Amino acid sequence: MVEKERLVTAVRIEDDVQYEAGLRPRTLDEYIGQDRVRENLAVSIAAARQRGEALDHVLLSGPPGLGKTTLAHVVANELGVPMRGTSGPVLEKPGDLAAILTNLKARDVLFVDEIHRMPPTIEEILYPAMEDYELDIVIGQGPAARSVKVPLQPFTLVGATTRTGLLTGPLRSRFGIVHRLDFYGLPDMQEIVRRSARILGVEIAREAEHEIARRARGTPRIANRLLRRVRDFAQVRADGIVTMDVALGGLELLEVDQHGFDEIDRRLLLVIIDKFSGGPVGLNTLAVAVGEERDAIEEIYEPFLIQIGFLDRTPRGRVATPRAYEYFGLTAPRKDQRLW
Ligand SMILES: Nc1ncnc2c1ncn2[C@@H]1O[C@H](COP(=O)(O)OP(=O)(O)O)[C@@H](O)[C@H]1O
Ligand SMILES: [Mg+2]
Repeated sequence: MVEKERLVTAVRIEDDVQYEAGLRPRTLDEYIGQDRVRENLAVSIAAARQRGEALDHVLLSGPPGLGKTTLAHVVANELGVPMRGTSGPVLEKPGDLAAILTNLKARDVLFVDEIHRMPPTIEEILYPAMEDYELDIVIGQGPAARSVKVPLQPFTLVGATTRTGLLTGPLRSRFGIVHRLDFYGLPDMQEIVRRSARILGVEIAREAEHEIARRARGTPRIANRLLRRVRDFAQVRADGIVTMDVALGGLELLEVDQHGFDEIDRRLLLVIIDKFSGGPVGLNTLAVAVGEERDAIEEIYEPFLIQIGFLDRTPRGRVATPRAYEYFGLTAPRKDQRLW
């Protein structure tokens, strides 16, 4: 069976790749929303520039599709330096990282995506590199082995992770600047849709912008994807202009509902309601019952459902809130009947 394409997942799909580079904001001014993060970074960047020093290491965390990679590019661009990019799982041998580090020039940015998935042997190389701009390399084996220190240029590491909790303490403590990205509010989402439509040359009505923004789970990547699909719909079924009717028709065809839920969100909530009487249910049990990976539930589905108040995380497990019952047209158990 061909798996149904996941349209409202925040994880990057094939189709996004060719568009994302073109839609990426390049400066802090172009970067929409996340005001607190933006302001803090603007100050840190200006200060580093004035002193002519490398910016402190930056850790960005948050669910997929919220703009971590984009922000890493923006930081490098604002610093006026090149960005070298890699990712935790790609770095397999210590030599891979050592080669990258020794090639960095003063004040360059090294972006490490999914930094929580770096092998421990690689992580250990990073400690002295981040702290003292130094590599500790062991040459030879056995009794003849000796350690050599290789100086590095002062650089800035920008790390991205979906879950800060998975970072080891020593690694985390080496980041001077730590920011968490949150789901975007509706006005910011609408601005993102408007900006992307402008770049893609799509004529779109205000209400249609609003409708797409509303159904994109507070996630720019999903907003951009829905916009592209609705644009296709407009081209084939209408005259290319995305009116409100066209947007509604397109979104209906895509089966994206009012909240931007897809099948898995619905299944997750229904399983808690039907099979576990609304919860609490432990994450592992839930993952098996839904047939999804535990990590995917924790990193991708759950944060949004919690944010909009459909799901609660309690010490004894996950529970479906009365709002979730309402969504399915069901009545939540009375307080005295609840198991939570
Ligand atoms: N603040 C923002 N303003 C405008 N567009 C954004 C913003 N953040 C992300 N995007 C868009 O969303 C897409 C996904 O962002 P990305 O940085 O790849 O997310 P992440 O690395 O967190 O998964 C990018 O192509 C970018 O165009
Ligand atoms: Mg990314």
